[in-house]
Amino acid sequence: MGRGARKITDNDAGDYEMKEPIRVAVTGAAGNIGYALLWRIASGDCFGTNQPVTLQLLEIPAGMQRLDGVIMELRDSAFPLVHDMVGTDDPRVAFEGADAIFLVGSRPRTKDMDRSDLVAANGPIFVGQGKAIDAVASPDVKVITVGNPCNTNALIANANAPSIPSRQFTAMTRLDQNRAVGQMAERAGVTASEIRDVFIWGNHANTMYPDPRFATVDGKIATEIFDTGWLQGPFLETVATRGKAIIVARGASSAASAASAAIDHMRDWWQGSNGRIVSMALPSEGWYGVPEGLVFSFPCRCENGDVIVVEDLPVDSFAQSKIDENITMLLEEREAVSELLG
Ligand code: NAD
Ligand code: LMR
Repeated sequence: MGRGARKITDNDAGDYEMKEPIRVAVTGAAGNIGYALLWRIASGDCFGTNQPVTLQLLEIPAGMQRLDGVIMELRDSAFPLVHDMVGTDDPRVAFEGADAIFLVGSRPRTKDMDRSDLVAANGPIFVGQGKAIDAVASPDVKVITVGNPCNTNALIANANAPSIPSRQFTAMTRLDQNRAVGQMAERAGVTASEIRDVFIWGNHANTMYPDPRFATVDGKIATEIFDTGWLQGPFLETVATRGKAIIVARGASSAASAASAAIDHMRDWWQGSNGRIVSMALPSEGWYGVPEGLVFSFPCRCENGDVIVVEDLPVDSFAQSKIDENITMLLEEREAVSELLG
């Protein structure tokens, strides 16, 4: 056993060897999502219950006092898997040697805004953070971008980190997938575990397309269970506009469900998706006619630490029209941030 490795032997189920600690960076760590996310990472929900973590937590100077409080609470939670913790306002310290990075820190929208309205406020954050990732993170780092507009923020970070392969920069559409699962499960009267392979195309924006055509409900074909009117109407509309509905109802942007989706995304990437199709936005390599480099949500499977886009699904005219709508929107967002792309 190497440094920091030890055995769990205090119960019958746990006589297995601990791995070497990994470094996990979280930005905006004192914010609402951070507060829900850190406890899930620390408890082993993301990287495994035999994977110790060093938490490298980034805030802006104005957030450092709140971050001190969060670190105190994490310490008070006495998680066996937390190897060490660092709180900082310097991205180079936060990303030093990082194996996994959650880019959360940025402003949420208010109920009168679209997510793309945040481009001007949040986009510049991802220039400096992309450069810092390029300079100091592990060359194998896996990055998930949560801060909105997350597809275009991932594009900015990727463009400013030329030494890191593009496929290591992703953006989160798993919350949208989970919302689609929740809607289907509720309508069919089953638990979420019975729903498989519904996924999201495109942008984490109202244009997104939750594609039901390959989904199953308790092993049965979803499009034979739900009528097209519901799938292309209220289902699509609810999933696509859920973020705003939560802001209106809660008076604040989704946080616990967003943290949970970020855990799902990184866990599947790290540990595999067990053959399931999952939604991840990543820089296009021309898949499904999406222009190269646009950070676009595709159907993916995760194996051996890699994301593999499922490339051979048929696209009908409705799906194509939604894919095209998302391409148009993401091209507009890319144009709006062209000065930030290095
Ligand atoms: P929040 O305001 O509660 O917390 C954000 C935190 O980030 C704050 O503590 C702030 O001080 C910090 N921060 C701001 N700029 C930073 C920087 N440059 N470096 C490090 N930290 C910085 O917001 P939240 O509810 O945690 O949401 C965070 C972001 O996640 C928002 O942009 C929100 O829209 C987005 N979001 C995305 C999804 C998704 O599905 N992709 C879901 C929910 C929320
Ligand atoms: C969400 O989908 O809940 C987040 O992206 C927050 C938002 O602004 O909609």
